[in-house]
This record gives sequence, structure tokens and C-alpha cells, in this order.
Amino acid sequence: MTRSLVVLGGTGDLAGRLLLPGLAELEDAGKLPDDLVVVAVGTRDRSDEDYRGWARDRLAEHADRVPETARDALVARLSFEQGDVTRPEDLRRALDRAGGSPVVYLALPNTIFLPTLEALEEAGLPDGTVIAVEKPFGRDLADARRLNEVLHRLVPEDRVFRTDHFLAMQTVLNILGLRFANRLFEPVWNAAHVERVEIVFDESLGLEGRAGYYDSAGALRDMLQNHLLQQLALIAMEPPTAIDARSLSARKADVLRAVRPPADMARHTVRARYTAGTVDGRDLPDYVDEDGVQPDRGTETYAEYTVTVENWRWAGVPFWLRTGKALGSDRQEIAIHFKPVPHLPFGGSEPQPDVLRLRFDPDGIALELNLNGADDPFELERRSLDMALAPQRLSAYGLLLQEMLTGRATLSISDVEAEESWRIVEPILAAWAADDVPLLEYPAGSDGPSRPV
Ligand code: BG6
Repeated sequence: MTRSLVVLGGTGDLAGRLLLPGLAELEDAGKLPDDLVVVAVGTRDRSDEDYRGWARDRLAEHADRVPETARDALVARLSFEQGDVTRPEDLRRALDRAGGSPVVYLALPNTIFLPTLEALEEAGLPDGTVIAVEKPFGRDLADARRLNEVLHRLVPEDRVFRTDHFLAMQTVLNILGLRFANRLFEPVWNAAHVERVEIVFDESLGLEGRAGYYDSAGALRDMLQNHLLQQLALIAMEPPTAIDARSLSARKADVLRAVRPPADMARHTVRARYTAGTVDGRDLPDYVDEDGVQPDRGTETYAEYTVTVENWRWAGVPFWLRTGKALGSDRQEIAIHFKPVPHLPFGGSEPQPDVLRLRFDPDGIALELNLNGADDPFELERRSLDMALAPQRLSAYGLLLQEMLTGRATLSISDVEAEESWRIVEPILAAWAADDVPLLEYPAGSDGPSRPV
């Protein structure tokens, strides 16, 4: 079977910043099929040569870690088709040009996923087609259901790839290694021993010129509904029988089904947006004054949500999800807080219980423990076992593209997971739209919103 790749939205930001660099890494690692053809589809009229020039510049900007020979080899595979992705005849032309069994990648705004999939249905797809869909997968549960219906008419579920690049990050992948390849953690990985779990992705970056997309998404749809809930699913799931799409998606879906949104949204969610401030020496304006933002949309740049997983293993353990932009520091980690020991045979003040941290950027794992002190061995001392994870050879998008081209859906979000994740956040969407939860503010560069007393 000859593989090809058709990138719908081939001249967009995602293609230039992440997909082409990911492909260049695969080229460099010798992981692209020799005869792979890549067809980019975009609305503006360009020749193949124009497109290759554009791609070369993007690669120089975003993939200078990849040797120039590999970047050039990738550029030589690229061609361009002008077209409207919602017109079947334009898609037909791109598919014909690509030939073989394509991976059709919807690197598009999610508002046009549905008409694009419908146009693909009308165009007809070659045997063995894989369809990759970027996130967020729709705008709400009804939308996700509609998308799944069309996708299921087009290709079998194991050839749909709902993208979540966090699943291809080593910190996230290491939840699997740590939990299921060691004997140590699993016996204490439950409500009897775990006090609470924090899944935090704070970013010091602001909007970065992405208002066109972000202002209609917000922190909840952009990060929490997908990236943070997927991490929760991997942390909370039962052991899979194998690391493959079928086992992982079944176990993750079980967890998501067990997530009960709390009744009181005002107590269990926080929404906020940033005001002017300084982050890392850079001055940021009020979010509402950023280019392209419509203030009356009330888009949040910060979201918090506390949920519980109502099953035998986790009943009563709060999972605190938090993410935001333009914050003072990049705290990005999953922190498992364990319960205190049942009896402490030491005098003095009670120490902090153990914490296991899985950290992003720099990726690492740390285990905070209480040990006998160096100065006074009868006093306790807090120490941390710290481990840096070796830099990942492939970027997250490189790894995702490798999986898509191989036709393996192990790192994809399944249809059920996508819908369950929307089910979990729908009550928030409703409460926020009804203004049941106030939209707070926080200065850029701060620690986030302070709670009203
Ligand atoms: C993306 C979000 O999916 O993930 C961005 O759209 C966010 O808003 C990004 O900044 C974070 O991931 P990374 O890989 O850039 O750290």
C-alpha cells in the first residue's frame, strides 16, 4: 500500500509551525516511506514552487534542529493544490494528485470540520484512508456527535485519528511506563492512599496572535476539554491489557464515563481572563485589547474545574484541573498528593505527605519524601528524588504523524472519549453562558485570579 498525506489547511499556522517540522524530523530519522507524496491544500493560488519556498522558510524558522539535507528532502516531496476544502471536486483533485492510501489531515478551524467531512464523503475516499482531525473536536457534545456520525460513514473507527498532541509527549506517555511497568506505584494508586490529584498547565505565553482561533475557543475548549481530561483519564484508568488503541481507549473511556460533574458550578469551577501586566519582562495588554478579540464574547483565558471519578478506585478523591495563559510561571505538571502516614513516630510538626510529580518542560519525574535529617537525624527533612527525562527524539507532532502514517491509532482519542469529554464540560459551558459563575480577572504575570471572599 502506498501512503500519501493530504494536508487540508496546508498553508496554515499549524502546518507551518508543527506539521512540516514533525515531518522533517521523520525524514531525518528515515521514518518516512520512500515514495511518500505530500499534497498541501489551501485557498490561495500558488504554484508548487511557491509552496515549497514557503515551506522551506517555515522549516528554517521552526525546525532548525533538523539538518538542512533532511528539510530539503521533505520539501522535494511537497506539492500544492489550490482548493476550497468544502468543495468535493477540489478535494477529489487533491486526492487524485496524492494517490495511494492517504492520511487526510484536517489542519483546519473546527468550525469547518463538518462541511469538510461531508465534502470528503461526496468526493469518495480511496481504500485504506486514515482521517486525522485536529482539536478541539467540535464545539460541544452535539457537534462532536455529528462529527462522529460522518466520520463513521467515511472510515472505520480504527482509521480515525482525533489528535491530542499531549498524548505524544513523554511526560504523558510516562504515566503508562511508570504505572504499568513497575510494581511500586499501583498498590497505592487509589483512594485509600491518594489525597488529591492536581493536573496543572499554566502558561506564561499570552495570546501570541492567535485570537482568530482562541477567542472563539477559550481555555476550557482549548486545553481542559481535551489535554487535561486525557491526562486525567491516563492517571485514573485501570491497567490496560496491552498498549494499543483498543485497550487504552476502553480503559480511558471507563474513567471519563465515571467523571461526575459537580452540581455546584460556582464552587467547583473558576473562569477568568487576563488584564494588562508584565510576563518575563514583556508587557501584555488587557486580553480584550489584543488584536482580533471581541470583548463581549467574554472568552476566558483561565479555567479551573474540580471533579471526582465515581468508581471503586477513586471515590472521594478530588481531581483539580487548572490551565491559563499569561500567568507568572509555567507550572506544568501532574501532582499526585498522597495521604499522611497513619501514625508518625516522630515528634515535632507534621511533615507534608509524599508527592509524586510528573513535570513538563523540562520533562521529569520527582518524588518528594520525608527522610531523617542530615543535621539532626531525629528531625525529618524533606528531600526529592528528581529525574530528568532524556530529550524526546521526535517532537509530539513528529510522533503523531509517524503513528498516523503507520495507521496505528494508539495515540488517538476515540469517538466515545471525545463525546464523554464534552459531556463532562457541558454543565460548565451552560453555567458560564448563563453567568452563574463570574468572569474574574487577573493581571498578566500574576498567579491567576484571586477568589472572591
Ligand atoms: C495547544 C493549545 O493545543 O497546546 C495552545 O491550542 C497551548 O493554546 C498548547 O499553548 C500547549 O502545548 P505546547 O506543546 O505548545 O506546550
